[in-house]
Amino acid sequence: MNNSTLLFSLEEKNLYTRTTTILIWWAVVTPLLFLLIAGIFMKNQIRPLKKLTVVVKDFGKGREKAFKPSGAYEVRKVGQAFNSMKDRIKRQMKQRTEMLAGVSHDLKTPLTRMKLELAFLGDSQAIKNLQNDVQQMSKMIDEYLAFAQGADGEPFSYIAVNSLIQSIKRDFKHQNITLKLQKTDKKLFGRAILLRRCLSNLLSNAARYATIIEISTLIHPKRISIVIDDNGPGIPLDKREDVFKAFFRLDDSRNPNTGGTGLGLSIAKDIANAHGGKLSLDDAPIGGLRVMLSLPL
Ligand SMILES: Nc1ncnc2c1ncn2[C@@H]1O[C@H](COP(=O)(O)OP(=O)(O)OP(=O)(O)O)[C@@H](O)[C@H]1O
Ligand SMILES: [Mg+2]
Repeated sequence: MNNSTLLFSLEEKNLYTRTTTILIWWAVVTPLLFLLIAGIFMKNQIRPLKKLTVVVKDFGKGREKAFKPSGAYEVRKVGQAFNSMKDRIKRQMKQRTEMLAGVSHDLKTPLTRMKLELAFLGDSQAIKNLQNDVQQMSKMIDEYLAFAQGADGEPFSYIAVNSLIQSIKRDFKHQNITLKLQKTDKKLFGRAILLRRCLSNLLSNAARYATIIEISTLIHPKRISIVIDDNGPGIPLDKREDVFKAFFRLDDSRNPNTGGTGLGLSIAKDIANAHGGKLSLDDAPIGGLRVMLSLPL
């Protein structure tokens, strides 16, 4: 036994401890695996939220997209709440338009009768004032009717802004209008009749109060600004919110040839909002009012 050698034989892998490998597996690989599973799970939960964000944003811009609630219970609940809110808003907008159109339409007949009767009553100053009032009322009603018809159901389409501005300029051919349009291939997704109406309202204001008008465009990556400058008297700073209210006018001329109904700016703002845009007032570098219509592209 003293001179003999004891020989051991064992596999190489048993020479090392496996604890380190197991430890690495548990410490690194398993958490990574869990992280991957959690990531996939979260992604599935976030996807319907992302879709909802897009639909909500579009609805804010006046574009409607269907949304089918999916995902976790809470996410589905938010989706359902949004859908019922959207339906309620749409119902109310439809009711408002229908009521506006109905009332305007019904008022047209007695007003036309009044106009005819007034024409036979002579031409004293009191009658003239009354005629002016009636004429102003029928202009208001025409505005309402046109607005209700325009707002109702006109589909969204892609509009080349520069061509739209050029064609509106042709309607104001007796005015001194300079165009400074930035070249672009980008098209605006909107309602052409309403936008034309909005710009026409702004231009007819400038045409009424000023002699020089400049229209320029600024193209940003995600929005376009249409700027209308004039050299008229402008609007004092403290009245720049009031002029957007319906029937608010700074000059209280009763003459329908020079005075308006005070609806132009409020309708223009309504149209800008319905497109997810903004209408703001500022001082124009050429001395009068600057009206800026900013719309998302
Ligand atoms: N470019 C402008 N320069 C100076 N004042 C303006 C200008 N645009 C609007 N205003 C003032 O703001 C008021 C409101 O404008 P708005 O377009 O709403 O009504 P309106 O032009 O009087 O009537 P309507 O447009 O309904 O025929 C006007 O009465 C006018 O006093
Ligand atoms: Mg006006």
